[in-house]
Amino acid sequence: MKSAKPYIEKNKERFLEELIELLKIPSISADSAYKKDVLKTAEAVKKQLKKAGCDSVEICETPGYPIVYGEKIIDKKLPTILVYGHYDVQPPDPLDLWDSPPFEPVIKKTKLHPEGAIFARGSCDDKGQMYMHVKALEYMTSTNQLPCNVKFMIEGEEEVGSESLGWFVERNRKKLANDVILISDTGMIAPDVPSITTGLRGLSYVEVEVTGPNRDLHSGLYGGAVANPINILTKMIASLHDKNNHITIPGFYDDVQNLSKKEREKMAEAPFNLKDYEKALDIDAVYGEKGYSTNERNSIRPTLDVNGIWGGYTGEGAKTVIASKAFAKISMRLVPNQDWKKITELFTKHFESIAPTGVRVKVKPHHGGQAYVTPIDSLGYKAAEKAYEETFGKTPIPQRSGGSIPIVALFEKELKSKTILMGFGLDSDAIHSPNEHFGIWNYLKGIETIPQFYHFFTELSK
Ligand code: BES
Ligand code: MN
Ligand code: MN
Repeated sequence: MKSAKPYIEKNKERFLEELIELLKIPSISADSAYKKDVLKTAEAVKKQLKKAGCDSVEICETPGYPIVYGEKIIDKKLPTILVYGHYDVQPPDPLDLWDSPPFEPVIKKTKLHPEGAIFARGSCDDKGQMYMHVKALEYMTSTNQLPCNVKFMIEGEEEVGSESLGWFVERNRKKLANDVILISDTGMIAPDVPSITTGLRGLSYVEVEVTGPNRDLHSGLYGGAVANPINILTKMIASLHDKNNHITIPGFYDDVQNLSKKEREKMAEAPFNLKDYEKALDIDAVYGEKGYSTNERNSIRPTLDVNGIWGGYTGEGAKTVIASKAFAKISMRLVPNQDWKKITELFTKHFESIAPTGVRVKVKPHHGGQAYVTPIDSLGYKAAEKAYEETFGKTPIPQRSGGSIPIVALFEKELKSKTILMGFGLDSDAIHSPNEHFGIWNYLKGIETIPQFYHFFTELSK
């Protein structure tokens, strides 16, 4: 495969303009007010896939948002790569913390992105990274170099749990048959430290509700005499970690796969500077489970975090009140071998059991998914490694990530193929946060590296 560099250099402006157009559509899957925009984005992706050289592209209806499916089959005897990505984005709030409107993309230089970065919701997660694959396909088809078959499956519900995609995959195993799944929806260590994501954490997401008295009460007349649901909820939450920051739910760690000393030593070799990490987040110290490093805490260890908590009076001024109810949303990140349904049950049982008399507790499970690890001796991993060597001039470091793409474990179960996670974002790109951005250099480097993966995967499959 010839280097895509000259082609990218020539078409760079257009590659950026096309992505910017896609980023202008607010495809927020979590908010039904944006339904039209989510559907419009699916149409836009379809059009671009067709233009990039897919033989057939369709919008596949599901019980939820549609899946854009496209393919180019050049020879049934050649290997098939299935590219997955998502066209939906996270809600942009809090809006006032954005320096420019989230759906009016602007290019600005930053310290880590001296070539400039596109600031917009979805720029890195995942429109920008998904679109690298569309442009890589354009390069290969327009220069007559596509070495194998390719299928695209781009969904619109990743940020809300991929329920419809699970439905779609189960019903379309044949259509989706492939030799390897390729995803760019993760990150890499640094522009000069390429890495391949070899693991994702699983997830169990629940919402809890604590109810005390049947109505909001005067906190003077009743204060001290009845259970205050907010006091109780915060106490219950606080008890979920012990003084070493271990999670106290009985059985929570039972199935956790512990890494060998050798594996942990290998992990510790990845470049990491604690002082820089703290400085970038403006914290005076990191915090977490005793006995583990920062990189271990956010990748190979399970966690429990409150994502939101509410109840009572939060308006201006003061209101003396004991609320009838208090709520929280809680996520647990899981590691290989932990089953998210089992963990959800353990949480529910435990949380109900620690409720004192005087309140009633409800636990409502949301969504979840299993963790994933991909071996580093598979054909796909080796092909990815060679691709990075070609375009970065360095061997990429395998790295387990703390994030989740729950559908990946399901892909392996249903489609029986390994997933390769070639992410080009940086942790500092602020995905899910205000001022999300994606480096232009990263975007173009992705477009340059992906065709090399196609090449080496096809070669190694012979
Ligand atoms: N692309 C992210 C996941 C990710 C980001 C993994 C960076 C590794 C590194 C994905 O869009 C995401 O946000 N996933 C959610 C889970 C989903 C069920 C809402 C997550 O990890 O919180
Ligand atoms: Mn994503
Ligand atoms: Mn995301």
